[in-house]
Amino acid sequence: MWTRTFLLFGLAAATCAAASLIRPGAVWPDNRGEHIQAHGGGIVKLGATYYWFGEDRSRNNDPEKRYVACYRSTDLAHWEFRNQVVKLADPENLGPHWVLERPKVFYNRRTKKFVMYAHIDGRGYSFASVAVLTCDTVDGDYRYLKSFRPLGHESRDIGQFIDDDGSAYLIFEDRPNGFHIAKLSSDYLNVEKDVCLIRQHLEGGALVHYHGLYYAIGSQLTGWRPNPNRYATAPSLAGPWSEFRDIAPPETNTYGSQSTMMLKVAGTKATTVIFMGDIWKPAAQWDSRYLWMPLEIGGGKLWLPAPADWTLDVKTGVAAVRAASK
Ligand code: GAL
Repeated sequence: MWTRTFLLFGLAAATCAAASLIRPGAVWPDNRGEHIQAHGGGIVKLGATYYWFGEDRSRNNDPEKRYVACYRSTDLAHWEFRNQVVKLADPENLGPHWVLERPKVFYNRRTKKFVMYAHIDGRGYSFASVAVLTCDTVDGDYRYLKSFRPLGHESRDIGQFIDDDGSAYLIFEDRPNGFHIAKLSSDYLNVEKDVCLIRQHLEGGALVHYHGLYYAIGSQLTGWRPNPNRYATAPSLAGPWSEFRDIAPPETNTYGSQSTMMLKVAGTKATTVIFMGDIWKPAAQWDSRYLWMPLEIGGGKLWLPAPADWTLDVKTGVAAVRAASK
């Protein structure tokens, strides 16, 4: 009897854990059973709920429009589709094949508005600007406001960072100059001031503050093809930044992925920093996959372990990696 109860309990626990697996590179079904469309994405946390925004490249989208989808979760493994929060028709007359990429949403506590930044461009990527959209609710329909070049600079890939004091930063790739970390204005509708320009050509930029050090990561400029992503550290956002080093064995090209964000999950027992990357499939973008793994981080070192299925307890912050997959 005892054994049976124990066994049943064990089985239930195993089923539960299996259902919460995060599986790098796999199809990631949402609550409807459809592969999550949140490519080049970002996450904002409200209370205990995470909202994941990203490029929605569903096959049946209108090819003239660009879409951003929003999902929500409390465990970072199960995602509920909320809305195609952006369904936009070429607001700047950029022509066929215009792009709206890497959407990132910031919540402004003062104005109570949700402010989305995205990379807006034409087919040849020469418009090189950010688009700003706003909404009164996190997963409502976002309204297009404007586009501009942050601080007058070219801007292609963007990233977002919220510091521990709540300050919001836009990371942007400026081809002639490098990797900018720039502070948003108090209403988040503008990019106010460069906090640092790292003179490195890196995109897919992401930042995290972990145990007193800032870690920046980025990929090299190879379009949809993966490359060895790199990281540097600094005691403050303004620098000085260390040399950039590989985050994974360079021959793996970041295990076929490209950085989009680092997400810090601080629990009661541990703080896990998740590397969020995209495994792009340029000829079948709707099927592009995600590579999320807990980073080995601390003491100025950052390392992306080989992809394997893993679980995360968002309450304790403890991540458990299974035996290497595939
Ligand atoms: C990548 C970038 C993607 C997309 C792609 C287009 O470098 O990270 O977001 O812009 O280029 O080739």
